[in-house]
Amino acid sequence: MTSRGLILGIESSCDETAASVVERGARTLSSVVASQIATHARYGGVVPELASREHLRAIVPVVRAALAQAGIALGELDAIAVTSGPGLAGALLVGITYAKALAFAQGLPLIAVNHLEGHIHAVLLHEREAEMQVLRLPSASLQVSQDDNPGVSLAEEPALALVVSGGHTHLYLCRPAHGAWTYRLVGRTLDDAAGEAYDKVAKLLGFGYPGGPWIDSLARFGNPLAVPFAFSQIKTKLHLAGKTPRTKAAYTAPIAELNPHFLFSFSGIKTAVLRYVELHEMRPEAQARAARLFAPGAQARLPQSKEESLALCSQPVLDLVASFQHAVVGDLMKKTFAAAESLGARRILITGGVAANRELRARFGAESARRGLRIAFPTPALSTDNAAMIAAAAWPRFLSGEFAGQGLSADPSLALGRSL
Ligand code: KG4
Ligand code: ZN
Repeated sequence: MTSRGLILGIESSCDETAASVVERGARTLSSVVASQIATHARYGGVVPELASREHLRAIVPVVRAALAQAGIALGELDAIAVTSGPGLAGALLVGITYAKALAFAQGLPLIAVNHLEGHIHAVLLHEREAEMQVLRLPSASLQVSQDDNPGVSLAEEPALALVVSGGHTHLYLCRPAHGAWTYRLVGRTLDDAAGEAYDKVAKLLGFGYPGGPWIDSLARFGNPLAVPFAFSQIKTKLHLAGKTPRTKAAYTAPIAELNPHFLFSFSGIKTAVLRYVELHEMRPEAQARAARLFAPGAQARLPQSKEESLALCSQPVLDLVASFQHAVVGDLMKKTFAAAESLGARRILITGGVAANRELRARFGAESARRGLRIAFPTPALSTDNAAMIAAAAWPRFLSGEFAGQGLSADPSLALGRSL
């Protein structure tokens, strides 16, 4: 292969417009993310129509900035990769339409990437970059032919991946296969994603959006054992008896076929927090805080110290937030390590927006060390949505010539892998 292996990745599945140039799936030359947080914050969640409008506004300058930062001209690219699903239909279409037009105009191959596979490749990309730094290799020396595994030595063994974000809490067994990866879904949430629970609890308590970073910051100053939240064991057979799957995802991954020990449910803890807030009359404090944080012109800033946290909320609220986070991280750990043990995976990858969480990283890291397992996270910037992960996930497809046609469209419920 004589080309530099330069892929432009484009991501627009939710509320970030992102573009990135990655060389050979292993070296990030640029990663630009335009966040829509300011647009959606006042609604406490993503408003799909506003998201599409913001993507339309941002896509051209974001792609231009990614090329400029990388110092790459359009004519030097080898392929264009774009997220085709899952995500918001209107939002996905902005990225897809733009990528198709650009690929057509430049005569470049177009590669469709599953957003969830992208999140998994955010970890693999980080590992490859770290390994290259240790070895001080140029990226070209890592992948030179179509027969090479696009990952390097680290990527040879199967891994259990937890994708934990605002839209997903999914466990996949990932296996390297002839330079690409195959995925088998082994567990997932029955209702809310973990990040969604973070966002809803934060909204209930009057904090900013997205809620994860707020709870992450505040939880450090509360007592994690103050409120004993509990997760009960899910009984799928009872839950699903006689029901036909209603969604595409349920067809591709029937819950009844998954091990109930690897299933998650986060809607219960959200309700438990709501009850606690009502019982302890925390609502007025939350409403006053929201009014302050979202007042016109207010610049909500994450608290950095205990003093700043206490200026924002009472100690019982800090304790509640710390207990919520402690319980969520504990449940994610329990099921992920149970799956790793049962499936014989010696390597764990944690990715998605919630993987930026400090307590999650520390506790997963300590438990992995105790069990003698290898664990990897993306950098915090690559944990949340970005396009470097899309360009990296496209690299094996580029090598195998797996290209999308101009008929490519958005698939809002695109699934990754199949269940058992
Ligand atoms: O991966 P992502 O950017 O978008 C989706 O694909 O959903 O994840 C966004 C989610 C949000 O729910 C946000 O609250 C959560 O990730 N999040 C965090 C943290 N940073 C972002 N959750 C916990 N702790 C964090 N530090
Ligand atoms: Zn995501």
